[in-house]
Amino acid sequence: MKDTSSNSSAKKNAGYKAAEYVEDGMVLGLGTGSTTHFFIEKVGMRIKEEGINVMGIPTSFQSLLIAKQWNIPITTLEEHDIDLSVDGADEVDSDFNLIKGGGAAHTKEKIVDYAADKFIVIVDESKVVDELGNFPVPVEVLPDASRMVIKELEDMGASCEIRMAQRKDGPVITDNGNFVIDAKFDKIESPAHLEIDLNAIPGVVENGIFSQMVDKVIIGTDDGTKEL
Ligand code: A5P
Repeated sequence: MKDTSSNSSAKKNAGYKAAEYVEDGMVLGLGTGSTTHFFIEKVGMRIKEEGINVMGIPTSFQSLLIAKQWNIPITTLEEHDIDLSVDGADEVDSDFNLIKGGGAAHTKEKIVDYAADKFIVIVDESKVVDELGNFPVPVEVLPDASRMVIKELEDMGASCEIRMAQRKDGPVITDNGNFVIDAKFDKIESPAHLEIDLNAIPGVVENGIFSQMVDKVIIGTDDGTKEL
């Protein structure tokens, strides 16, 4: 699946740049992944060095643990609205459609990112594509529904694999206790329609197409950043 160890200086540049958009008093959505890791780290540094007062709403156990490591106060969507969410992506096209979920966190990411007043995506250049679809679309499913969901996805033209864990026997289990099916489509004509159609299959919890709401894309390079 995704390679979390590559392009780390570009990811760091993107994550650190996004932290410049954080203002005192904000409630932040804390995305998941190796790029967002740098964003959370830099927010933690700003709290320590500048004394800014912010709170974070994590999108995964990973981002919760990183936020705790940097003493970022944690809150929930029950208690606060989100001013700014910052998150990585596996692919981003020129219309700012995304594929996310390479780390199986896309369900909480979508809830948090879509709820935010402002949503910034941080990526390295390898994630920027003309059209989505080289990366399979992650589909989180209730385990009992997985065979039926795979049949539906195959009828829609996808080749499917249940994502397998690396240091555990059997499938990846998401933070919500579900499986992830990676669905590879030959061509994604309309990300917005596919996002809706996938969620209409009984047993699907959420899919990794994000077709709404991106305000800015920060692309990290080895020596800086570009903004779209
Ligand atoms: C988590 O499930 C994903 O949506 C990540 O945000 C996405 O895979 C990008 O991760 P990296 O920054 O590690 O490439």
